[in-house]
Amino acid sequence: MSGDVTRSSTRLDSYVDRYAARTQGMTASEIRALFSVASRPEVVSLAGGMPNISGLPLDVVGGAIDELVRSNGPTAMQYGSGQGDPALREQITDVMRLEGIEAHPDDVVVTVGSQQAVDLVTRIFCDPGDVVICEAPSYVGALGVFKAYQCDVVHVEMDGDGLVPEALRQAITAVQASGRRIKFLYTIPNYHNPAGVTLASARRAEILEICRQADVLILEDNPYGLLGFDEEPHRALRADEADGVIYLGSFSKTFAPGFRVGWALAPHAVREKLVLAQESATLCPPSFSQMAVSAYLRTHDWQGQIKQFREMYRERRDAMIEALDDMMPAAARWNVPTGGFYVWVTLPDGLDAKAMLPRAVTARVAYVPGTAFFADGFGSQSMRLSFCYPTPERIREGVRRLVGVIEEEQELRATFGTVAPPARELNRRGYEGPNTDLS
Ligand SMILES: Cc1ncc(COP(=O)(O)O)c(C=O)c1O
Repeated sequence: MSGDVTRSSTRLDSYVDRYAARTQGMTASEIRALFSVASRPEVVSLAGGMPNISGLPLDVVGGAIDELVRSNGPTAMQYGSGQGDPALREQITDVMRLEGIEAHPDDVVVTVGSQQAVDLVTRIFCDPGDVVICEAPSYVGALGVFKAYQCDVVHVEMDGDGLVPEALRQAITAVQASGRRIKFLYTIPNYHNPAGVTLASARRAEILEICRQADVLILEDNPYGLLGFDEEPHRALRADEADGVIYLGSFSKTFAPGFRVGWALAPHAVREKLVLAQESATLCPPSFSQMAVSAYLRTHDWQGQIKQFREMYRERRDAMIEALDDMMPAAARWNVPTGGFYVWVTLPDGLDAKAMLPRAVTARVAYVPGTAFFADGFGSQSMRLSFCYPTPERIREGVRRLVGVIEEEQELRATFGTVAPPARELNRRGYEGPNTDLS
């Protein structure tokens, strides 16, 4: 009897009538649902975007932390400022200078990863029903935040050169004509997650100009900007526009995500609101993590470390592209990223990456279906493949298994007809829609 009660109470949520309306937008992302299967050792996971930190010099990091505790322990283990550690904020301005940004440490707010910065910015700007413009596809973690604050996401087309300026202009005009308020454009200009593309230099000024004219704020999310494979860092949008851009950075991909240290650089007035929001969310970002990151930056050749990371990721990118070139069916398409962690693959017509996923996991390979990166169910013909974590050999094996599944799927389709409707028919917005062919 008591066993039954336990079972039913774990199955039914008796609090369901009491939750705030905003929790309806809070669902586990497709990536999270995948995590438990994808992390089994027999599965080659091309799904997760975990930075590969195996190259970090743990003795150096350990030494810096040891020294921190001995020399500055009481401060490191105490509450700190809501805006973040002043010494770290100063160092963050040095990091941003690599992308052409001249900023004052007073305008930097340290956050618990850049994920929290997305949350705080949305919290201070968005009421339910406000519009956030995002690329198509966009970062799943940001879409989750926008959903939780009950924003309406409007996706705008990208191509191989990133966000398409004319599509942005049209989307802004359409939303404004409908009487809705656009709160900001959320964009990932460099080595996009999940699309792998980078906003072309020539487009940057145009995007800034469109937003300036339409009075649309830009939220520039740039965790991968220093991870280009063969090129100097691109000039940040924020480098050419201080008032209309909130810039987000992170140490997760250039150092280690476990410290959970990111930041926002914002115009002065916005910065004050962000600090208030930060204080109500966490009182202050963790002193210990901030001081550890600061010590690492002070005592280690962090730029040399980033160079090593870039080389390691480039080797993995090459392994993935080579495997795709060698094995993928002719009708599949993908782009060749010049940095970051991800390749966006569009399957041959009629295949559905989400429907195919259970069969892929059975074949011991995992990826993230494209639908995770759209707010509106689009993207089923595409998938994100990550090359950041597995070794080059495992990447090749993962692609081999994936291709086996795709070929079986094509055979099924040839035998029994369409497995899934073509992606364009899935677009419920009544216009041509985002171009998921990013090749
Ligand atoms: C585009 C983008 N923004 C933000 C984040 C969040 O990173 P973090 O909170 O670790 O700084 C990620 C993590 O994958 C990301 O890909």
